[in-house]
Amino acid sequence: MKKLNDNLIAIAEVLSDGEYHDGTTIGEQLNITRAAVWKAIKKLINYGIPIESTKGKGYAIEKPLLLLNKNRILENLNSHSFKIDVFEELESTNDFLKNYIHEKQARVCIAETQTNGKGRLQRQWHSPFGRNLYFSILYPLQKDISELAGLSLVTGLSLCQTLAKLYSLNDTLKIKWPNDIIVDHKKLAGILIEIQAESHGTAQAIIGIGLNVNMQSQQSSPIDQPWTSLSEITGESIDRNILCTKLLETLLEQLNQFDKNGLAPFIQTWKYYDALRNQRIHLKSGINEYSGMANGIGPQGHLVLERDDGVLQHFAAGDTTLLK
Ligand code: BTN
Repeated sequence: MKKLNDNLIAIAEVLSDGEYHDGTTIGEQLNITRAAVWKAIKKLINYGIPIESTKGKGYAIEKPLLLLNKNRILENLNSHSFKIDVFEELESTNDFLKNYIHEKQARVCIAETQTNGKGRLQRQWHSPFGRNLYFSILYPLQKDISELAGLSLVTGLSLCQTLAKLYSLNDTLKIKWPNDIIVDHKKLAGILIEIQAESHGTAQAIIGIGLNVNMQSQQSSPIDQPWTSLSEITGESIDRNILCTKLLETLLEQLNQFDKNGLAPFIQTWKYYDALRNQRIHLKSGINEYSGMANGIGPQGHLVLERDDGVLQHFAAGDTTLLK
């Protein structure tokens, strides 16, 4: 567990113009020794960042690399009532927040890379350094655990609305119930929610979000399903600090709204983003598998499936696939 180091952020920023910079000049610029410059460069190389090193010229970075910066994330937030930590490396941002599970205030944790990033259904979440966003929010809710099925839907909606607004992606983003954000059948983001019931009908939620931002699909990756990233969709390199600020702003506002008013205010918007609506799907729920027509969601956020045998059934959890 390492907090993100200022030298690393500053050196990445110097190299981000794509030009060559020699160690001595970088050291002078940042008021650190050449050894400290080399240490940071070595670290970036170990994290898989392609840095060219040429005798007489110095170091250059192939693609722009702007690292996350807690101050930049916070300075653009209108107001905030949560604690935030930004790490260079963590096993998993969800797991980190379990250390604070009884806290009564929201807490955010972001990492540049995860060594054991977790997906739903025991999958791994590929978390290369410096490219994407991996963050989790610990959020105390004045709700009983039985009222929280809609939480993952609200999180997905909040992500979609922010991304649609920031990058003019209306009609492009969809949510595959319960919470895969997809574009043209390719996964852009995933959400992993872990909940602990507390006393007196309250609960603590850890909401983990993995969003593919600047990852390029030409690079070989261990991801075993079709995926995309924001930079592939927009054709631009994305400033993750600005993106992170906007996502946090909307998410915390909408979590507050959900805590107060439940899922009802979100149902209409869900219809717009629902990737499965009136589509034939396959659903895996526990050990059971079904196929049928997806028929939206119920008031609690459960998937409504018109099964092939004619039975209309609501599902609280499961994994869905669109059938052709
Ligand atoms: C999925 O679609 O399977 C959910 C993926 C969730 C990944 C995020 S990355 C940040 C947070 N920390 C984790 O270990 N997992 C979530």
